[in-house]
Amino acid sequence: MGMSHTSGESASRGPYGIPRINVTTLARIASSPSTWSEILGFHGELASDDYVRYADGFYRDNIRRYGDDWHYLDIVNVLYATSKALQPKTYLEVGVRRGRSACAVARGCPTVDIVAVDMWQKNYAGMENPGPELVTSELLKQGHRGGLAFANGNSHVLLPQLFQRRPQLRFDLITVDGDHSPDGAYRDLCDVAPQLEAGGVLVFDDISHPAHPYLLTVWRKFVAEHSYLSSFEYVEQGYGVAFAVRTQ
Ligand SMILES: C[S@@+](CC[C@H](N)C(=O)[O-])C[C@H]1O[C@@H](n2cnc3c(N)ncnc32)[C@H](O)[C@@H]1O
Repeated sequence: MGMSHTSGESASRGPYGIPRINVTTLARIASSPSTWSEILGFHGELASDDYVRYADGFYRDNIRRYGDDWHYLDIVNVLYATSKALQPKTYLEVGVRRGRSACAVARGCPTVDIVAVDMWQKNYAGMENPGPELVTSELLKQGHRGGLAFANGNSHVLLPQLFQRRPQLRFDLITVDGDHSPDGAYRDLCDVAPQLEAGGVLVFDDISHPAHPYLLTVWRKFVAEHSYLSSFEYVEQGYGVAFAVRTQ
């Protein structure tokens, strides 16, 4: 019988606590050959833009060269693997753009309820950023059948408003990939952290992006101030990604 990647919440609590998934295990699953083969089956279809085409070629080239030994993490394989392993009921994404990362989550767990926050900045990263209609059709194309709610506007206004109105709102999986300024990214992280479910995962993109060299420092400061988070950083290749499991 194959091993399951689920978090095993039914096991009883011993001295090490509930056997929740840990960040190193998530990193392994994300970069495993079976995960890559699943991702390559759908990645090329995502929001077909220049960056997706480039990333698709990059994945295939590295796998051709290094086979099963290629170790690499980015927002797509981390989100896909996490979503598949956790089977989240609820997902909050801050910074959606054309839906590539949201589709990775939906592919891992088609029934997930998604709250998608974006101000749809025009021509973001040199490509059209049309908004909810495109993202909805991308998600449907990828088989998403959970709930989908858009919050259109500035996350620094919308997130505090939402959590003030619904303080009990919890998410099993959260991505912060919106405002990339040092203060803005830090504020988004601090705003969403209290809403992360215990055992849930928070993903933060671009920690080694050359245009945003301060984001790794932002992440480290944020994690140091939130002792209930166990963090993993990947900065070796590409734009880098960080993620954390909420341990309590
Ligand atoms: C890097 S893109 C998101 C990419 C997406 N997560 C993916 O991997 O496909 C950043 C997005 O955040 C949005 N954004 C930037 N600042 C924002 C803010 N303060 N509030 C809401 N959205 C914001 C932009 O409009 C853009 O669509």
